[in-house]
Amino acid sequence: MFDTMTVTKAAGALIGALLFLLLMQWAASGIFHVGPAGHGAEGEEHAQAYTIPVEAAEGGAEGEAKDAGPDFATVMASADAAAGEKVFGKCKACHKIDGSDGTGPHLNGVVGRPVASIGGFGYSDGMKAHGGDWTPEALQEFLTSPKSIVKGTKMAFAGLPKVEDRANLIAYLQGLQ
Ligand code: HEC
Repeated sequence: MFDTMTVTKAAGALIGALLFLLLMQWAASGIFHVGPAGHGAEGEEHAQAYTIPVEAAEGGAEGEAKDAGPDFATVMASADAAAGEKVFGKCKACHKIDGSDGTGPHLNGVVGRPVASIGGFGYSDGMKAHGGDWTPEALQEFLTSPKSIVKGTKMAFAGLPKVEDRANLIAYLQGLQ
């Protein structure tokens, strides 16, 4: 009598525990399904654990590519100096190209020139500290947003947001010696 009761209770407990585990598994896979991968087919259940990070990584890479826009070097390779001369209209008020200085230093020969190297021009401390040479790459970075690239610059110019404008302008400046 006692033995039968014990066996019945034990079996009941065991079945109960198994049912509980099954339910937990169900619940867990249900939660898993509403995750980033959304509603995958039942067969993909195991692959999903790996698919999610891959998808996230791809999304991130696409996001970065969009932010960066077209690559400067690519645009520079087909830059148009004649179009750049028009962009230079925005610089003319302050920069001359005849070797004399105005509000800003002369810009003929600026491509490849060391930064803040025109003797007699009163550069800001920020520009003097910037260092390096005005390579096309350094110029395009500076011209994107002068004040954020050279802290404390006294060049009062907002920047050229379009990569095409920067590339064309630099192509034009390259031709001025
Ligand atoms: C409102 C006047 C003003 C305008 C507009 C302006 N600049 Fe300048 N620019 C300056 C001044 C002032 C400096 C010196 C900055 C310093 O010392 O911080 C300077 C410095 C520079 C330098 C560094 C030169 C060197 O010898 O190191 C470059 C390159 C330059 N400007 C390019 C441009 C270009 C290209 C444009 C047009 C897209 C432009 N600037 C528009 C006033 C101006």
